[in-house]
This record gives sequence, structure tokens and C-alpha cells, in this order.
Amino acid sequence: MKLSPFFLVTLFSLSAFAKTDPAKPVLASLNVLQAAGAKVVSSDAGLNLGYGLANPAQQEKISEIMHENGRCGGFESLSPDLKAGDVLASLKSLVEKDRAYAKKRKLLTLEKKPEIVAALKELDENNIRTTVEWLAAFPNRYNKDPRPNVHVDQFEGRLRNLMTGFRGSWKLEQIAHTSTQQKSLRLHIEGTTRPRQIVVIGGHLDSISRMGNAPGADDNASGSASILEALRVFLSKGPAERTIEFFWYAGEESGLLGSKEIAGKYKAETKNVVAVLQLDMTLFPGAGQGVIGSMEDFTSAWLRDYVVAVNDTYVGAQLITDTCGYGCSDHASWYRQGFPTVMPFEADFDRMNHNIHTAGDVIDTRMSFAHSLMFAKIALVMAMDLGNSTASQPY
Ligand code: BES
Ligand code: ZN
Repeated sequence: MKLSPFFLVTLFSLSAFAKTDPAKPVLASLNVLQAAGAKVVSSDAGLNLGYGLANPAQQEKISEIMHENGRCGGFESLSPDLKAGDVLASLKSLVEKDRAYAKKRKLLTLEKKPEIVAALKELDENNIRTTVEWLAAFPNRYNKDPRPNVHVDQFEGRLRNLMTGFRGSWKLEQIAHTSTQQKSLRLHIEGTTRPRQIVVIGGHLDSISRMGNAPGADDNASGSASILEALRVFLSKGPAERTIEFFWYAGEESGLLGSKEIAGKYKAETKNVVAVLQLDMTLFPGAGQGVIGSMEDFTSAWLRDYVVAVNDTYVGAQLITDTCGYGCSDHASWYRQGFPTVMPFEADFDRMNHNIHTAGDVIDTRMSFAHSLMFAKIALVMAMDLGNSTASQPY
């Protein structure tokens, strides 16, 4: 059982606002919901998940549990229009499909392509450093800041510069949301022969802090910058056969807001998303330099196997596995809608950077841009290999 220390501390410190709010629908570890006295509307023992209604006092109770235990579970807030039973039932059927596949899966191998090997050599960790320094210098990138889009506008400007001269067909836009004033950014690079098949590569651009500035160097300037560097090299190789969409999401830290709306819309429009890569925190090698944690909940067995093959063929990191125990980042938004997701992470959960969501999430000597570069490699291979293949989730 895992509680997100970050979300709950945030909740605790923002509880002055929460007091005026009514009970909110939440998806949480069943035992956490029960311990906090929240109303459990629906539950699934096998998933250890409950859909409950937690009023502000119960949310604070969850916060207390977290303070007592250090860490033991987390929760996601859900939109009130979702039916409790439906949320759990659809999640359960997705998890069951993944588990069934994982049991009888065959080893995936990739053919090593010289053009991808050459492209990987062009990635430069100094570019990641420059981007992280720049993003972390904003006082915050908080979605509830009175001016929540200053960095979004400037990031868009940088992307437009990068796109000048690109020979393929592309579209860059800010996506407005109903749940937050902050905008997400989407760069659509149209596939040449199979444009309706979409590979999504994304991370959240927003940051949050309990007190003072929210530099969010690791969380998640690092993932955003790793994606940008992968994009830079991808552009010099031309478009892929499939469409590649790069996302920098809004409002993740306030409950996966941007990605939730986007994934919901893609599902409603029956878009064919063949893969979703989420990069959230790539800078702190807490489990060792070159050790990457592949998160196994809210991610898909097929795509995790594919990333193992990407790593074996092109990256050479040491992959370990762990779980968040809750929908800890934007991949959960996509997973819930039935799209295949994967989330390679800077370490395992226990050894991640514990300065996130504070003014201390800055670049210090323990950070490693060589570590971040490995994630850019994974993103670039996904764009160039999966982007030019016909492979898709076989279930
Ligand atoms: N990057 C963090 C969380 C994270 C923690 C990712 C551990 C992977 C492993 C993310 O931005 C975050 O803070 N998420 C929230 C949850 C969200 C639903 C508000 C959290 O973990 O509290
Ligand atoms: Zn994050």
C-alpha cells in the first residue's frame, strides 16, 4: 500500500481551501479509504482499490495517516460525472488483460537499425541541462498561479523556433482545458504513410510547491527537457510513417488535469493511439547512475516489454521494476481510457528524489544529466522505431 507523500502533503497544506469543498470522488487504496472513514462507494479487493467520497476532514485524515506512516498509498481525484462501478470495472478489465498477456508473452526483440544508432549519438545532455536551468528559473509553473501560462507561451515560442525548416507536415498548438486555466502544448508531427496511428510522447510541464518557489527541476523540467532533446534530433531525421505527438501537459500536479481531458477526448474521438510514453522525473539517479525504474501499475505489459527491448538494443540502462500504487502521473489518464502506456522513471519509488514539490527541487550535485539522457534515448527510439513499425498491442 502506498500513499503519495507529495500529493497528501500538498493537500494538507492547502486544506484551508479544501474545508469549503464538499466530499470529492476519489480513487484510492481500499484500506486507506477505510482507515480515513471515507464513504466507499465501490471497491475491488483484487486491485486493492476503492472508489470513495472523501470530505475535507477525511482528506485530512488521509493526510494524517501519511504523516504517521511516512508513506503507504495515494489517491486520485476523479470527475464527479463518472460512475463508481464503471471506473473500477473498466480499470479491472484493463488490468486483467495486461496480466493475462504478461503470463504468456513471448520475448520481444528489435532489429538494430544503423540510422537509429547514429541518431542516438546526436543527443546531447548539455541541451537537457540548458532547458532544465531555464524552466527551473521561473518562480513556479503552477496551474493555479494568477499567470499560469507564462512558461507555456515561452516554451511554445522555443518549439516554434525549433520547427523552422522542418520538412514534414506538423501542427503546434496550445490546448485549453475546462478544469484549469493552464494550457497544455501539443506538437503533432503527421505520419507519412499511417498518419492515423499515433505514438504519444509526453510529460507534465507544470510544477508545485508547498512553500516558496516551485522550480520543479526534477519534477518535471527534467522529463520535459528529455522530450525536447529527443524531438530536436527526431526533427533532423524527418517524419515517421506513424504520427508522433509530443505533449507537455498542464496541471498534472493538481490531479492529472490536462492529460485527463486530452485522453478522454482521444477516447471519445476513437483516435488510434498505439503507445503512450510518459516521462516524469529523469534527473535524480537515486537507485544508481543508469538504473531506471519501470513502473508496472497503470502501464501496459506489451509496451513495458517493448521498452525492455528498446533498452537491450539501444540504451543499455539497468531496468528495475516498481509500482507507484496509485495513478501517480499522466500515463494513468491514458491507461484508464484503454491506451497502452509505459513509464520509465528515475529510480524505484523509495529511492526517488524526495525534494520534489519544495523550493529545493533544484539542480544540485546529486543530479545527473547523463541519467536524463537515457530517457531521451528511449523517447527517440520510440519515435524512430515504433514510429516506423506496424507493431501494436496484441490484445
Ligand atoms: N512526479 C510526481 C510523482 C511521482 C512520484 C511519479 C513517484 C512517479 C513516482 C508527480 O508529478 C506527482 O506529484 N503526482 C502526484 C499525484 C497526482 C495525481 C496529483 C503525487 O504523486 O502525489
Ligand atoms: Zn511530476
